[in-house]
Amino acid sequence: TVASPRPLNIVLVGFMATGKTTIGRILSKKLGFQFVDCDHEIEKQQGMKITEIFKTQGEEAFRQMETDFLQSLASQSKLIISTGGGVVGRQPNREILPTLGYVVWLHTKKQVIFDRVMSNSNRPLVQTEDPMGTIKALLKVRKPLYKEVADIQIKTHKLTFDETAEGIIDTA
Ligand code: S3P
Repeated sequence: TVASPRPLNIVLVGFMATGKTTIGRILSKKLGFQFVDCDHEIEKQQGMKITEIFKTQGEEAFRQMETDFLQSLASQSKLIISTGGGVVGRQPNREILPTLGYVVWLHTKKQVIFDRVMSNSNRPLVQTEDPMGTIKALLKVRKPLYKEVADIQIKTHKLTFDETAEGIIDTA
């Protein structure tokens, strides 16, 4: 049997604030692929910000929305798909992600993540008394999961967003 070719999408995974949306937009321009931001699409569908979805429907409901949204992308091509940082927590998502395309794990330092999340209020999971502690704990759980789904890992802290995008294009 002949293996069917992989769909021609690039899927960006990684922790909150690692640049998935910014780099996704740059890749979209450079490659002429359509940019799809999972969080943003879910917000549009629900007519609510992520923080409100978490408050009114809970995290589990949000996770189901993520799974449903990823499934809706199957068989599409020429997309740059930016995922939410927690998408790898669910086994079904870890199965779907690699089927959608070339999976790139964007990685940066904890301090960079901390500085970026503190300047953005739409991240319910780090609205705790100890955001750095929360970041560390989540990273510990998630790192092996990003690794499991990703084709490549890119360490971004010494790179500009543009250099990161070029690096992805070179390896894809
Ligand atoms: C989450 C990350 C967010 C968003 C939600 C949950 C997470 O996306 O999906 O707040 O669990 O890490 P970003 O990675 O774009 O911040």
